This record gives sequence, C-alpha cells and structure tokens, in this order.
Amino acid sequence: MGEKSFQLFPEAASSIAGQVDGLYAYLVLVSAFFSLLIAFLVVFFAIKYRRKNDEIPKPADEHSIGGMVLEIVWSIIPLGLSLIMFAWGASIFFTESRPPADAMEIFVVGKQWMWKVQHNEGAREINELHVPVNRNIRLTLTSEDVIHDFAVPAFRTKTDVLPGRYTTEWFRPTKVGAYHLFCMEYCGTKHSGMIGTVYVMNEADYNAWLGAGSGEGSMAEQGESLFNQLGCGTCHPSAMNKQNGRCPNLNGLFGTTVVLKDGSKVRADESYIRESVLYPQARIVAGYDDIMPTFKGLVTEDGLLKLVEYVKSLGPKNGTESSATAAPTQTSSSPQAPARPAGPARAGNQ
Ligand code: CUA
Repeated sequence: MGEKSFQLFPEAASSIAGQVDGLYAYLVLVSAFFSLLIAFLVVFFAIKYRRKNDEIPKPADEHSIGGMVLEIVWSIIPLGLSLIMFAWGASIFFTESRPPADAMEIFVVGKQWMWKVQHNEGAREINELHVPVNRNIRLTLTSEDVIHDFAVPAFRTKTDVLPGRYTTEWFRPTKVGAYHLFCMEYCGTKHSGMIGTVYVMNEADYNAWLGAGSGEGSMAEQGESLFNQLGCGTCHPSAMNKQNGRCPNLNGLFGTTVVLKDGSKVRADESYIRESVLYPQARIVAGYDDIMPTFKGLVTEDGLLKLVEYVKSLGPKNGTESSATAAPTQTSSSPQAPARPAGPARAGNQ
C-alpha cells in the first residue's frame, strides 16, 4: 500500500475490484450529469422565462398539448440508464455471491471483538488473514455472538457474519500486500477496534507461513479427534467404524442429497451438518429415529467447523479412508488435492 496522504479509493487488489469501481464510476457519472443538467436548466429557465412585464397571460393561451416525442424520450432514456445500473449491479452481485468451485476454503469466526481464522491445514490466527495471491479464496463465516460484518475494502467485498448460520464470501487477491480488514456492522463497545490485516503473499511465502503453523494437525484431523471425544463415533459409522443401523452413515455423505423423514430433501452441506449437531431433531433422515441428543453448548463454533471439515473429509463418495487421505474428489480446499502445489514447508507440518 502506497503511503499516499489522500486517496479517494482504497487500493484495488482483487479480481472483482475493477468491476465494482467501474459500476461506481458509472453511477457517479450518471448522477453528476443529471445533477448538472437539472441545475443548469433551473437557472436557464428562471432567466429565460422571468416576468418581463405586469401583464398576466391568459390560461387558454398558455395551454399546450405537449410533445409526445419529448415525453417518451425523457422516460425511455432514464429507464435505459437505470436498467443498465440494475443489470450491471446484478451481474457483479451474482459473481460475488457464487464462489468458484476450485476456491480454497478458510474459516472465520467473529466474536466481540475479534476475528478468529482457521485454515484447513491447521494454522490459526487472530485479526489476521494470510492468503496466497492469485488464488480463489472462499471464506466460510459465522459468529459466536452478535452480527458482525467481514469487509476488506481493497477487495471490494463485505459479508454479514451471523450467529447460528454460515455465510460465504470469496475473492481472488491480485496483488501481494497488506490490506485493512474491518468489521462493518456495529456490534458493541469495541466495534471500531474489531479490525485486522489481510496479508496477501506469493505462493511460496504462503506455504512457508502455513508450514510454520499450529502443529495441531489439519482441521479435519482435529475434527476427527473431537468427533471421537464427543462419542459421535459410537453411533455414526465414520472413518473408523462400521454401519450399525441406528445412525446415518457419514461416509460419503457430504454434498449429497438426503431424503428426510417427512419426504423432503436437503443437501448435506455445511449448514445442514452444523444444524444436525446442534438441533438433531430439526431434520431427521428418513429411516432413522429421533434418538440423537443435542450438542448445543458442548461444541464451540470453532469445534463445529472442525466437525464439518471432518465430515467433509469423509468425502462425497466411498469416503471410507481416514481423513488424512480422503476427499479426493471433494475440492481443492483439501490439503491433499492435486490442485494445490505441495509446498516443502508443509511436509514438516504433518
Ligand atoms: Cu464486529 Cu462490529
């Protein structure tokens, strides 16, 4: 970031920043054009049609039919200009709300008043987010308490972070550097202090940074030990035990469509797994009884994310391997996926 004393815009450091700035420029230009035009006409007509003598014209003389062509023109042109705003804005909105399938996944938990970040590989950080440059990054966000909002102006992106729900945000950083991270939803006394820094690094630096991480194992591995610690494995067939018929099999579950007791269907995504841990009775799988106790209050949001990662690592299909090698077809967010170049530093991490 250049040390400029005066900057109208934050640095444009993501793939979407140019589009957002383009739309913004269009909005400003259209507004400025019509503001100036109207201001000019107000003054111009005020002078041109000012009262020149005391004679009051008769209403009948003043009556004019009006120009149909004029009426149509000044309706159609603004309509077109605003429809461009709508279409352009919608297109950017759709791009921003649909993370690419190859995006690398990072998890963010907001709480009063800090940001906790977890990487799949196990590294954790607070009020900092390290990402590699020129990679699609997908954040899965949730809050432990109130509504926060994760915003990185240099990436032209912001997303509400809600308690009890997962939201996503994605971006592709295009410039190595350090960028401000803000909470943009008033969330209490120290809201203004809920800030941090996003570090965009080149791939080698990022891998070195990851390698220096926690040494606690990947999120899926940590999720697996939590899974065992909570005794989930005594009922749910998973990596290490077999089907027992009482509880749904978690192998190959993630990303599939599940048929529920009432006949409706649900996609087994992050939110569904989270809900099933906290509110097991909410959406019961067809063929199973309402026997699972709630784990609400027993698992933190961090822990839930790890459990979700563990279930994810069991793969969409044939997920019978252990978490260390599973998820060959899932996403490149898995550390073992081929899309991710194996950094020398990571070998020491696992
Ligand atoms: Cu968190 Cu404002």
